[in-house]
Amino acid sequence: MTKNIPPINSKIPHLPFGDHQDSPFYGRDIISVKQFNREHLDYIFDVAHEMYEMVARVGSFDLLKGKILASLFYEPSTRTSSSFTSAMERLGGSVIPINNVSYSSVTKGESLPDTVRTLEAYADVIVLRHPEVGSSALAAKYARKPIINAGDGIGEHPTQALLDLFTIHEELGQVDGLTVTLMGDLKYGRTVHSLARLLTLYDVKLNYVSPDLLSFPSELFDEIAATGISQASYQSLSPVLADTDVLYVTRVQKERFEDPVNHEALKGAYVVTTDTMTDAKEKMIVMHPLPRVWEIDMAVDEDPRAAYFRQMAYGQYIRMALLAMVLGKA
Ligand code: NCD
Repeated sequence: MTKNIPPINSKIPHLPFGDHQDSPFYGRDIISVKQFNREHLDYIFDVAHEMYEMVARVGSFDLLKGKILASLFYEPSTRTSSSFTSAMERLGGSVIPINNVSYSSVTKGESLPDTVRTLEAYADVIVLRHPEVGSSALAAKYARKPIINAGDGIGEHPTQALLDLFTIHEELGQVDGLTVTLMGDLKYGRTVHSLARLLTLYDVKLNYVSPDLLSFPSELFDEIAATGISQASYQSLSPVLADTDVLYVTRVQKERFEDPVNHEALKGAYVVTTDTMTDAKEKMIVMHPLPRVWEIDMAVDEDPRAAYFRQMAYGQYIRMALLAMVLGKA
């Protein structure tokens, strides 16, 4: 009776019946977009699309029944944490939410490795957001269960980049051949760091629009240049707007600023308005990982090219796909 149950000190992450253990993501951590190739992306998008259809048809279903996700957030979150929760619950699983670490033993001085080792004793997969670059990789070193990076400081936000790319794919039909303009805080915005890296798998042209102080990191620029992707930096949107297929806007990450005055000085410099939309292509999309503060005027929301709320909704299906995949059910 007990022979299929691994011993409690086993190194095997999870072995229930009927798993797809041959899946390339089974039992794997998701730490960086560098882990993915185009074949993986096609597969993830197919699964996400199926998840979308299933949710539209039946709302929720029991693919991950009996599985538990620990959702551990050391930084604020609305969309990422709630879409991981809804993803898990729509798949019939359940969630241990630690969205306010000040009520956990972290306040008593518990280290990240110990917190992760605790949660994996109760859960099958851990989603982690933490202010330090490399925190998810560190957690993954200690954890036997899959760790999914939900943002590590200014480092990466791989699940956001996957949903961003899925959005482009769903909205514009293909990614190859597009001109993608990233605008705003390109220095501290982790979503653009992950997205730009992921876009190197496609034949795209990348434009970076930001004030000098918030420009795209030079090491990342060099990393992307080495892939042969064409990139150019600008201080204003006007030279590239007319050619842009995807305008990806980001918030100034004021929580990352050492000096709050710097943030105030930059506020308002890069705002998308209805005038911006007049000069843009008829078939382009405006994206934003959200939360929006002042970067996109609310009047733009009525424009069908404003894709940011649809983008946010796509996140649930991508996260359903990822959870099913790492737990060997897709
Ligand atoms: C982003 C993040 O946390 O990096 N939000 C998100 O996950 N959708 C972007 C931001 O906070 O500006």
